[in-house]
Amino acid sequence: MSKQVILTGIRANNDLTIGNYFGAILPMIDMATTRAEEFQVNLFVPDLHSFTTPVDHSELQSAIWNNLRIFVASGLPIDQPDIHIYRQSYIPAHSEMTWILDCFTGFGQLERMTQFKDKAGQFDAVFQMNDIIANNYPNINTFDVKDVMKIFDELHKMEKENRDSATVGLFNYPVLMASDILLYNATYVPVGDDQTQHLEFTRDIAERLNSKFNQELFTVPKAVKEQHEFFGKDQGLRIKDLQDPTKKMSKSDETGKGVLFLNDNPDEAVKKIMSAETDSVGSVNLDWENQPGISNLLQILALLTRRDIQEVASEWQGNERYGDFKKAVADEMREFLTDLQSKLAAVNDEEIQQKLVSSEVAMTVQAGQTLLNVQKAVGLRA
Ligand code: TRP
Repeated sequence: MSKQVILTGIRANNDLTIGNYFGAILPMIDMATTRAEEFQVNLFVPDLHSFTTPVDHSELQSAIWNNLRIFVASGLPIDQPDIHIYRQSYIPAHSEMTWILDCFTGFGQLERMTQFKDKAGQFDAVFQMNDIIANNYPNINTFDVKDVMKIFDELHKMEKENRDSATVGLFNYPVLMASDILLYNATYVPVGDDQTQHLEFTRDIAERLNSKFNQELFTVPKAVKEQHEFFGKDQGLRIKDLQDPTKKMSKSDETGKGVLFLNDNPDEAVKKIMSAETDSVGSVNLDWENQPGISNLLQILALLTRRDIQEVASEWQGNERYGDFKKAVADEMREFLTDLQSKLAAVNDEEIQQKLVSSEVAMTVQAGQTLLNVQKAVGLRA
């Protein structure tokens, strides 16, 4: 029997954060190093997903390679035969499967995906309507039918602008992601909270096609809850922005001051931690509600030292010297980044290139098999 597959994709954008590292890269590497006997591990770069929103294309190659090098520098044992690294676009079955799955996906279902709604900046009609009325019709009692028509014209124009700037690729993003997962019959897929809806979508389309064609075309990946159980406490983890600990640490933050990047100069990272937003409570407690900044730092410290957050929290509990606490976190961060970056400088590109080629050949065969079964089911092949 073939091994169960653990799979995840990490988007290439040249600025991976500690959230990417602790949320996805590390759990994959842990599995690859501790359970390589039981599982096939696919850690890939979804390069076709890279420009669903605009990017600087002259930097895409270096971003893809940056990811691959980070995987290896972080300890992915690429000498193991069942550990695979590959680039999505090198395996044409991803694109072909996406087209087929597209034809079994409802327009409305994709339109409801929150990531699409957020990124496409979909406007809230009612909200906009209120704005237009407030700005143009302060004396609301007097507007007549002609005015109402004008309001609708205005709304229509806005909607059109929104829709024209969001790409079909962005809309179709979840279907490509479903193909990434289903082509290899992956069971376990560690993803962050922002991706759980896409995982549910993947399960849905797999179940629907299996039942429509009355055969097990796809392995249905485990539900989110079971994913979390499998990967342990690090799953569903949300590292918060250092400057605004009520929001997620995200690379799209413009200033970068609240975000810790894997490529940060260690001194820079130390500064970011020392100037992290805290609170006026005056003592360290694990309390996400009232002390989100402190709790976030406890979380980061626990991850860096690979200990349980409760344990770390009880060690610092009640300490009134925020400066000392921050320094402890900053020291760990400096050590972590210094170590990772020196490993990064030492990775062997030649070795990565060889592994890529052999994984991409092997994955073309695996993906091709799943694709062929689907092509047969839909009547494209005899
Ligand atoms: N959408 C994921 C993200 O933005 C990246 C991704 C693409 C992925 N394909 C995947 C993750 C397949 C897991 C499985 O983080």
